[in-house]
Amino acid sequence: MSIFDTLSTYGVVPVIAIDDAAAALPLADALIAGGLPVAEITFRTEAARDVIAKIAAERPEMIVGAGTVLTEAQADDALAAGARFALSPGIDAAVLAHAARIGLPFAPGIMGPSELQIALRNGCEMVKFFPAMPAGGPSMLKNIAAPYAHTGIGFNPTGGVTPENLPDWLALPQVRAVGGTWIARRDDIAAGNWYVITENARAAVARV
Ligand code: 3PG
Repeated sequence: MSIFDTLSTYGVVPVIAIDDAAAALPLADALIAGGLPVAEITFRTEAARDVIAKIAAERPEMIVGAGTVLTEAQADDALAAGARFALSPGIDAAVLAHAARIGLPFAPGIMGPSELQIALRNGCEMVKFFPAMPAGGPSMLKNIAAPYAHTGIGFNPTGGVTPENLPDWLALPQVRAVGGTWIARRDDIAAGNWYVITENARAAVARV
């Protein structure tokens, strides 16, 4: 089973921007307590690498990946820290080739068929559909995905996904898991509102 197959068993990937590595383990514990031991730690903060490293080392039951991976160096950092997968909002063939070389499963972002075909050419198993709601929502993705069903490519819609529209996304057979910031918001992490994150995770799992 690939790491993206594993993500699909959860159906939801919390997208996380975390400013302080000291919050890494409480955050992981809050998600684990909510039944969602999955996290995309984005390289939008300086702390991302340390956060991934702490979680990977001390909470091995957690499936931790790296998000907003824009460069080869970030892919190297993510893998060295223990990330089991990586994602990006956009697609960059050089970064994809590098990720393949180092053995880091990578899901690039796409918003249309041409980008999707670049991902297929690079052997991607899953892509992020970003920004999912502004780009047209579930009906748009349904139409983009239709001609590629035979390829087996999977999708991770992110951007505007909410608890309310979550079932509409997961109803599409090609959607492996949605992504979203609503489960572990940056301000809740900064404030240490772990019970809020646990409840959000629990509610998300209940809707999958
Ligand atoms: C992101 O920040 O990666 C996505 O845009 C998440 O969007 P959301 O805040 O709408 O979940």
